[in-house]
Amino acid sequence: MRWPAGVDGLCFGGDYNPEQWSPEVWREDVALMRQAGVNLVTVGVFSWSSLEPEPGRYEFGWLDEVLDLLHDNGIKVNLATPTASPPPWFSLAHPEALPVSSDGVRLTHGSRDTYCVCAPAYRKAAAGIATVLADRYAGHPALAMWHVHNEYGSYCYCDLAASAFRRWLQERYGELERLNAAWTTAFWSQGYSAWEQIQPPRKTQYLANPTHALDYRRFLSDELLAAYCEQRDILNERTPFVPVTTNFVFAPWAPVDHARWAEEVDLVALDHYPETADIGAEEQTAFCADLARGWAGGGPWLLMEQASSVLNEGGRMHTKEPGRMARLSLSHIARGSRGAMFFQWRASRGGSEMYHAAMVPHAGPDSRIFREVAELGALLPAIAEIDEGRPDADVAILWDAESWWALQAPILPSPRLDYLAAVRAMHRQFWRAGVGVDFVAPGTDLSRYRLVVVPSLYLTSDASADSLGEYVESGGHALVTYFSGIVDENVQVRLGGYPGAFTSLLGLRVDEFYPLADGEAVGLTGGGEGTIWSESVHLAGAEAITTYAEGPLAGMPAITRHPYGNGQAWYASTQLTDDAFAPLIAQALHEAGQPLPNHPAGVELIRRTSDTTQWLIAINHTNHPADLPANGLDLLTGKPIHTTLTLTPGTTAIIRTPHP
Ligand code: GAL
Repeated sequence: MRWPAGVDGLCFGGDYNPEQWSPEVWREDVALMRQAGVNLVTVGVFSWSSLEPEPGRYEFGWLDEVLDLLHDNGIKVNLATPTASPPPWFSLAHPEALPVSSDGVRLTHGSRDTYCVCAPAYRKAAAGIATVLADRYAGHPALAMWHVHNEYGSYCYCDLAASAFRRWLQERYGELERLNAAWTTAFWSQGYSAWEQIQPPRKTQYLANPTHALDYRRFLSDELLAAYCEQRDILNERTPFVPVTTNFVFAPWAPVDHARWAEEVDLVALDHYPETADIGAEEQTAFCADLARGWAGGGPWLLMEQASSVLNEGGRMHTKEPGRMARLSLSHIARGSRGAMFFQWRASRGGSEMYHAAMVPHAGPDSRIFREVAELGALLPAIAEIDEGRPDADVAILWDAESWWALQAPILPSPRLDYLAAVRAMHRQFWRAGVGVDFVAPGTDLSRYRLVVVPSLYLTSDASADSLGEYVESGGHALVTYFSGIVDENVQVRLGGYPGAFTSLLGLRVDEFYPLADGEAVGLTGGGEGTIWSESVHLAGAEAITTYAEGPLAGMPAITRHPYGNGQAWYASTQLTDDAFAPLIAQALHEAGQPLPNHPAGVELIRRTSDTTQWLIAINHTNHPADLPANGLDLLTGKPIHTTLTLTPGTTAIIRTPHP
């Protein structure tokens, strides 16, 4: 990790789009930024047409003035390359660089992200503007970090993308026969006899080939990454001491393999916008923050964008309740973000996102939102020390973008199989219980964890199955859930009984699936129900902990446990409801030697530990006071806590205690 140069403590600020405003407003902006404690702003993300209004004619005067003004006011700049939104002149000059959708429609300019990453003209222009910016601002004292592009993730299915895809496939498979075998092209007469016959997975007559579709997503992730790396290398060459990153987008949609991308950025940066207005927003925040920390290899990362005052629930904007913006920001920081940044600084007067939340809303600084922003900015310096400790996590959840992509194929035994929902449901159990978790990629060394959880990991390589097996064999505990280990990297079923990659680890064999209908639930003997999925589990060494209490599988195992080497492996063959999940998690943790913490419901708990100090971060999401055991100093109030911390509704405490 490389930190923005010259930024002390936690980052606080947001996307700053001065090109939308007059110089008088810029002066008010910097004064307000100082008032709010802003120390870093992202400038220029969508400025290409303001910087280069015509090909080769640059207008840097405004940006020079803005950067000078920010520098004079002690605010550092995360300078963006504007390549996510090429100007209209570019698209007119290079119509072949406009993206084509999977059903063959060439998109028109008029929004943003209207480019094909495989178009040579686009790549050349993107490298060009990055070079010009780096040459001009390399020595500017405000420059603290480079923000390449914005949320890489645009897909295209044009002929240029087709050529690049074929090159990628040749690299991956070498021989066409290998591709034909991997893609199972013998099915439906899809055998390829020349590379030129292969197209992107465009709209076709009926079901598409799942391996073809997965390879296209792998390819696009790699191609977008190559485009990022081209710019990064240009910037590194000119400003070797300035870190370079790009902001990852994570939604119910993961356009790229972030774990792989994380290896190429100096600092993992995440944009996060929860999709619900209820407590799910807090759960999703914890989930995404833990994921980002996982991509950062357990180290610090940065929340690059969030909305100050609203949650967008299916298009309806829900105003965040007083204090909620601070709570969500602190949850991110507690889970490893080195700061809280927003989109955007000042709410736009017009344009497509004119009603989007901002740090300075349309009402101006005399507003609840700005006051809360300034309050948050004021408290961050007092808590920056928590960065010395690493968030505690004795549990790991395996997370894999490729497995998710594979599970989005339209060929599955149930449309209700949903990787993101399954992983979130699992994470939620630990979030509620106040147990810290790390997300790790399959194949990672798991030896530091007491329990490793594998929710619906549909696609599993031999290597990752072996790694989980070795972990359990040497004393680890694993909990695997339904529809894991079913296919290999080529999306081909592992034969001989499901879940093929894990049958010996789990000590069982499944011969038939019994997917459940919408709204259908099946009762379990231990209490609670299963939803979405069920299957006929035949024991082969495992013992049944809970059985199906009704339906066609009545009496057959639903949850099992299998001693394996020095450890044990649990299996849940259905999507457990919370009243079945919670006791299973408690038992699995207990047997792994990690009993549940003393934890009041509705209070989010994060512990961070350094060699000398422990910090307990407690966030009360309920509307009643909550007591929990604690001793130390509350960094937010400056008050000592003896024995019991009483958290009033909606408040957060960060207690520093010497580490025993
Ligand atoms: C982000 C994007 C920003 C802005 C924001 C609105 O995904 O990076 O530019 O569009 O969404 O929520």
